[in-house]
Amino acid sequence: MSGAFREREPEGVVSPAERAAAELAATWSVGPDGVWAAPGRVNLIGEHVDYNGGRCLPMALTRVTAAAVRRRNDDRVRLSSDAPEAAPFEGRLTELGPGAVDGWAAYVAGTLWALREAGVDVPGMDVAVASDVPVGAGLSSSAALECAVALAAAGLAGRTDDPQLRHQVVQAAIRAENEVVGAGTGGMDQTVAMLAEEGAALLIDTRDFSTAPVRLRLADAGLVLVVIDTRVTHTLADGQYAQRRRDCEQAARELGLAQLGEATADDLERLTDPRLRARARHVVGEIGRVDRVVELVAAGRMAEIGPLLDASHASLRDDYEVSAVELDTVVAAATGAGALGARMTGGGFGGSAIALVPEAVVADVERAVVDACARRGLTTPATLVVTSGGAARRLS
Ligand code: GLA
Repeated sequence: MSGAFREREPEGVVSPAERAAAELAATWSVGPDGVWAAPGRVNLIGEHVDYNGGRCLPMALTRVTAAAVRRRNDDRVRLSSDAPEAAPFEGRLTELGPGAVDGWAAYVAGTLWALREAGVDVPGMDVAVASDVPVGAGLSSSAALECAVALAAAGLAGRTDDPQLRHQVVQAAIRAENEVVGAGTGGMDQTVAMLAEEGAALLIDTRDFSTAPVRLRLADAGLVLVVIDTRVTHTLADGQYAQRRRDCEQAARELGLAQLGEATADDLERLTDPRLRARARHVVGEIGRVDRVVELVAAGRMAEIGPLLDASHASLRDDYEVSAVELDTVVAAATGAGALGARMTGGGFGGSAIALVPEAVVADVERAVVDACARRGLTTPATLVVTSGGAARRLS
């Protein structure tokens, strides 16, 4: 059993909200005006389609990043985190844009900058964050960070928490990642962090970013979702993400389409470059799998989505080429030990996989993924049983 982290924490663990408030007091010597939080996510299916006008089906985790904030009477922004490697940051509101900040603070500074650009009257503030979303595991700890602080800043600015604000926060967080942090994102992570509903996955149609909750009822089906964190992130991942986006744009151009998500299976034959054809085959196939999964889940046939998860993984591994030996190993081990289906989740090149597992064999699957990695001399993975949590919110 790996058990490095599990969804049900032992008694007495201090929550991210309490840790954030303690960090605010310890670093900036102030108490909070309020504490806000936003969740990490896993994507059930619909990978690398959110920048192609496709559909994806992520769900929010119950794990969150919390932001404790205190309004200031000047134009300064001071940020700190209780993560040991995250150095504090101080700057002026007018100094938060592209090129001004790097490291973890760029996610926060960039989001505050983009919110201001969008017309939200962000005040000077002291911010402290704490998280129980594992960082670097492909569970969108960055979107959780951006969305928690952005909602907090809007709250301090006196903005009502309504759908319009939530969409503004999503757009600001996407802009921050693309223009300030310099990491590509298609918007799935920020959208689910702001709009998720507890107990449901969120169907996102990235043609217009409209959303619809899809109730999962996993427990009724005797099923559990297990996240397997390979604890490995391969370098060059950022460059590879941008390269995949360029491949998709080129394929769409060659087909005369605005976005590759509009392509049909017949269109694929018209792509002469084998690499572009393989990328497009993934995108077209994956969008079809999302639609099929949504139909099955809505019909209460959750157990039948397993083969679609397996097919998604194979497509990401062979056609989209974003998997990694660690991901392939844990996916094969999970299905070999009784998971109904498993796939890498998120951007790839390491990070996490998910497995749909009958309750009775969860321990077998957890043991199998650890053993399989040990046999191949790979880093020991950690497992996390997840349930679907709610969207970003004010906690106190
Ligand atoms: C990362 C990005 C998302 C999405 C996934 C792949 O998580 O942030 O926008 O593109 O990769 O599905």
